[in-house]
Amino acid sequence: MVSKKNSTPGANEPLRQQTELKEPPVVLSAVDVSYSYKQGDQSISALSCLSLNLRKNEMIAIVGQSGCGKSTLLHLLGLLDNVQSGEIYIRKEENAPPSLFPTSKLSEQERTLIRRHSIGFVYQFHHLLKEFTALENVMLAQIIAGASKKAAENNAMRLLSLVGLSNRAQHKPHQLSGGQQQRVAIARALANSPQILIADEPTGNLDESTSEDVFNILLSLCSNNGMSVVMATHNTHLCKRFHKTLRLDIS
Ligand SMILES: Nc1ncnc2c1ncn2[C@@H]1O[C@H](COP(=O)(O)OP(=O)(O)OP(=O)(O)O)[C@@H](O)[C@H]1O
Ligand SMILES: [Mg+2]
Repeated sequence: MVSKKNSTPGANEPLRQQTELKEPPVVLSAVDVSYSYKQGDQSISALSCLSLNLRKNEMIAIVGQSGCGKSTLLHLLGLLDNVQSGEIYIRKEENAPPSLFPTSKLSEQERTLIRRHSIGFVYQFHHLLKEFTALENVMLAQIIAGASKKAAENNAMRLLSLVGLSNRAQHKPHQLSGGQQQRVAIARALANSPQILIADEPTGNLDESTSEDVFNILLSLCSNNGMSVVMATHNTHLCKRFHKTLRLDIS
């Protein structure tokens, strides 16, 4: 377990660390990240001085009680929100040799492209498009990224089958159970073969055996396809199978 402050030794030196050690390269790094929400004249601290290094092929679990800042952290790592202090670094594929790029220096357009092609995000509350079928929900991100309709459909069917939902492809979200919606959201996040998957309690509505299946799919993608995962979870059984665990405390 690692505590919130200074959680990853040397995390404030991501560039040096990845060249000195013969470990897989760091693909995403948070250094001394803090975040507060403003509510009227009140400031609610959600994260303070958090550091984390995610390496290629690695799975990191984010744990901690409700309200400790897991979703806040994942939204920052997924470039959905901007850090207020500290920095998030990302490995840009075109960098040679692999090096980390400070995301605060990215333009909005570059952030959008990274979110589209390099990061898959599973939201805590799914956010499936309710007018579209499961199949269309998984196809859409691929079409936006430039895939043909046929290629997107074939890949979406493959992913729905992977998460055990090939027989629910034509169902709209309201015709699916909570756990089925969650699995569609996982398939959607994997649709553009992201380098990094960020998942906010993606097994929260799943029974033990289905959670295990989903975990095994992600583990296999990390081991065999070079993906890396950061996942918030309350599942203490699954937690033991991650490569690292980061425990957050209430700020
Ligand atoms: N939009 C917001 N405005 C004000 N405060 C917020 C907002 N979003 C989150 N917070 C506060 O920030 C803190 C961290 O919230 P966050 O959603 O990151 O927690 P969490 O660890 O994901 O919790 P859970 O396990 O319940 O999903 C909480 O105290 C929460 O009340
Ligand atoms: Mg949350």
